[in-house]
Amino acid sequence: MKGIILAGGTGSRLFPLTKVTNKHLLPIGKEPMIFHPIKRILETGIDEILIVTGLEHMGAFVNLLGSGKDFNCKFTYKVQDEAGGIAQALGLAKNFAGNDDVLVILGDNIFNSNISEHIKSFNSGATIFIQKVNDPSRYGVPILQGKNIIAIEEKPANPKSDFAVTGIYIYDQQVFDFIENLKPSARGELEITDVNNAYIKEKKLTYAVLDGEWTDAGTFESYYYSNQMVHDLNEPK
Ligand code: G1P
Repeated sequence: MKGIILAGGTGSRLFPLTKVTNKHLLPIGKEPMIFHPIKRILETGIDEILIVTGLEHMGAFVNLLGSGKDFNCKFTYKVQDEAGGIAQALGLAKNFAGNDDVLVILGDNIFNSNISEHIKSFNSGATIFIQKVNDPSRYGVPILQGKNIIAIEEKPANPKSDFAVTGIYIYDQQVFDFIENLKPSARGELEITDVNNAYIKEKKLTYAVLDGEWTDAGTFESYYYSNQMVHDLNEPK
């Protein structure tokens, strides 16, 4: 399996912190945000990681991360020309993935559980990770029927469960066929939720409830929380 970190977007919800830099380069605790998903990928044993980001700050990512030598891994970089959504960014990873399955993490997702077991037991289809949250309408929200997810709604005004779909996904190669057939959503983006719904339609999606702490860091409130979380978990008092 290979790893992919999606680190594009304009970071508009964190403006002006993101006026001259990319959201994923902002500090969380003692390290740049993107170090956290990199560590989560490395601890699963995956050592080939693609970073997808926009043109404007690609140089900064390369300066920060380099070849991967310092992390004992190999980084590959791919430019997303315009901010066309998470699924569009993932579509750029097709050649990188080749014949392998992929672990995809959104670069602003900060969590502390080790997902190696899920990587080992993955066969085919898609595996997503969900967690209970107080504010589901900020996220993709699964509709559960018994133990099954029958659909996911992206940022619903009236969420049908109190779970969020986290930005951690495992996909087989069919993901790239689904992405090629996607239509842009109302906000003009190719949505990762539509990719997951395509897997659900073919009964190929499984899920796990993510252990431990998880947050994204995409709003001021969650950015503050992620700093606190990393501080409490990792740093000596
Ligand atoms: C994205 C996805 C959403 C998911 C979230 C997790 O939202 O579209 O389904 O729940 O990441 O971080 P975004 O934060 O890009 O608006």
